Amino acid sequence: MHNDALDGLTDYPFDRLRALLNGVDAPADIDPVIMSLGEPQHASPPILAETVAAHAGDWGRYPPVAGTPDLLAAIDEWLTRRYSLSGGTIQQDHNIVAVSGTREALYMAGDICIPKDKGGAQPVVLIPNPFYQVYVGAAVMSRAEPVYLSATPETGFLPDLGALDIETLKRTALAYICSPANPQGTIASLDYLKTALELARKYDFVLAVDECYAEIYDAAPPPGALEAAGQLGGALDHLLVFHSLSKRSSAPGLRSGFVAGDADLIAKLKTLRNYGGATMPVPLLAASAALWRDEAHVRTNRDLYRQKFDIADKLLSGQFGYYRPEGGFYLWLDVGDGEAAAKKLWGQAGVKVIPGAYLARLDRDGFNPGIPYIRVALVQEPGTIGDALSRIRDTLA
Ligand SMILES: Cc1ncc(COP(=O)(O)O)c(C=O)c1O
Repeated sequence: MHNDALDGLTDYPFDRLRALLNGVDAPADIDPVIMSLGEPQHASPPILAETVAAHAGDWGRYPPVAGTPDLLAAIDEWLTRRYSLSGGTIQQDHNIVAVSGTREALYMAGDICIPKDKGGAQPVVLIPNPFYQVYVGAAVMSRAEPVYLSATPETGFLPDLGALDIETLKRTALAYICSPANPQGTIASLDYLKTALELARKYDFVLAVDECYAEIYDAAPPPGALEAAGQLGGALDHLLVFHSLSKRSSAPGLRSGFVAGDADLIAKLKTLRNYGGATMPVPLLAASAALWRDEAHVRTNRDLYRQKFDIADKLLSGQFGYYRPEGGFYLWLDVGDGEAAAKKLWGQAGVKVIPGAYLARLDRDGFNPGIPYIRVALVQEPGTIGDALSRIRDTLA
């Protein structure tokens, strides 16, 4: 006996990658480089460990579910500054909840936003294609229909919300957008975000904007959905945004992020977390506040990614459809057949990447937009990245 919705959770990309590479050995004489995982490898900022140490007396306290007032204030200050919000747009007790990494919260968005039916029909969850896998977990476990919106060069690597039919929009309960997008690095413009929010309000669905890569950008800071809401008058209804310290502060092991937006949905998320959420320990809440208040380490982190994109420019320009992404830290390379390339790169060059097909699904037209691609995460130090990208270039040439 089990919850049969779980049977819909198949095809986790890293399980498929393991199966693909089963029996393929990396060459014994070179160091393997794992570029399949988006796990930042830069040193985490010293204030993290220092703040945790300074709060050593707090391990005996149960943490408040939504986060400490100090952390919520730090997040409020950061959001207001980062997105030029008018004072009062965010009320820290009503519009923010701290979460143990955004993965959990993106999943829980399904639990709080998807009704049993919408207008008598099965609810729909709109998912950019390719996508971060948790979005599908949320849709499947809430027994909604995932509708994959292929984000290709033709759509500017963002879902074309304008192409959706009215019947689908009426059934939509939740729509995920990721900006900067994982894996393509595209940044949604303010106009795109405003249009998406207006659509959500018109058809009464929740817009969930995953801004977990918001601080890893090349030229200009990506606009955010709260900024879009600010420009539409400042109301936050129908909107949830997700931010994380994992990429911003190179601290994926801290498990710290937050959700901000619609007060009613934030209250529901707090209720759900009261019953079944993992709270963040008080020393980690304190460290999170220190990190949101510090920008110096974020600038250093961003510069390190820029250095790596400079290296990629030199090594890969003109090949594999290479472009320098606007944000995030992935390369999305068109190699013709992503699965064949991933196998060859592991077997011949000791470089592990993930086939794009595993990060996407068949859309309603029976098209998987990831098939020709590989995703390459530039998470190691620049020296390792230069070596690995040369191996990729030489092996696939
Ligand atoms: C697009 C996207 N969203 C969310 C997450 C989750 O990040 P975390 O749970 O570490 O906050 C990731 C992690 O790789 C991601 O790539």
